This record gives sequence, structure tokens and C-alpha cells, in this order.
Amino acid sequence: MKNKKKVSVLFVCLGNICRSPTAQGVFTSLVAQQGLAGQIVADSAGTAAYHLGKPADLRAQRAAVARGYDLSALRARQVSEDDFRQFDYILAMDEANLAELKHMAPPDATAQLGRLLDYGHCREHDVPDPYYGGPGGFEQVLDLVENASRGLLMVLTRSNP
Ligand code: 4NP
Repeated sequence: MKNKKKVSVLFVCLGNICRSPTAQGVFTSLVAQQGLAGQIVADSAGTAAYHLGKPADLRAQRAAVARGYDLSALRARQVSEDDFRQFDYILAMDEANLAELKHMAPPDATAQLGRLLDYGHCREHDVPDPYYGGPGGFEQVLDLVENASRGLLMVLTRSNP
């Protein structure tokens, strides 16, 4: 992937404080581990504006830290029209987020839209929203996101050799 334009990925959930910051943290860490930090970049955003400028939910941060991922620098933002032109991939955490993204996309959008778990080797298609549930929900988010992040990185490195 040398001398190529960076591949960019935007992870999207509803609030950008639980699932998509987790995906950004996990995927960015995996990319760095593989020595690809200069070639692949990731960001995250929410379809809603409920939590603009807020750090990731403390439950998400604590669950992530326990597995070695630091989400402390991340701040919530909302998806913008520009994102659809700037990012190569915009990956939703669930079907509702994907439907909302399709609705928000401007006519000149170039990003490839999909769901993160399209890249996972698991039965689930959606990362369940952990916001109103117990701590087990945050572990499940991490399990699914770790699984799909490995699949995503494999696809990106194969299709951008
Ligand atoms: P996220 O979780 O979409 O994974 O960040 C949520 C965060 C906040 C809310 C819902 C889901 N909320 O309703 O405020």
C-alpha cells in the first residue's frame, strides 16, 4: 500500500458515544499494530446530534481500556454531508444507522456505505445498542467490533495492495 492515497473509514452509530468510538479505537489500534497507520485512517460520528462534543460513554471507555484501547481523546460529532465525499468507506453499526446514512447522503456522495459486521465472521449483522443495557452489552460490542475489524482490515489490505 506504499505511495497510495490513504484509505479512510468512518464508523457511524446513533450517538457517537458508545459503538462507533469503540470501533474507531479498536480498528485504529489494529491498523497501528499491523504497521499501517500511515496508510489507513479512521474516524467516527453519529447520525444524531444528542451528544456533540462529549467524550465516549464512561462504560464504553472502561470496557475498552480493559482490553487495551484508549478512547479518552475521542469527542462526539455528527455525520456531515462532506463525510460522504471525504471518506472511502462509511460503515454503520446497525441497520437503522445505515438507513439514516442513505437518507442523509448527498447526490454526489462517493463513499461506499455498508455495515461494519458485513466484514465480520459472526452470525450478527447489527452491533446492538448498549446504551440502555448492562455492562455485558459493552463487552458484546467489543467482541463484535474486534471480530469485524480484523475482517475489514483484511479486505482493505487485499483491495488496496
Ligand atoms: P451509540 O449509543 O449510538 O452506540 O453511541 C447511544 C448513545 C446515546 C443514545 C442512544 C444510543 N441516546 O439515546 O442518547
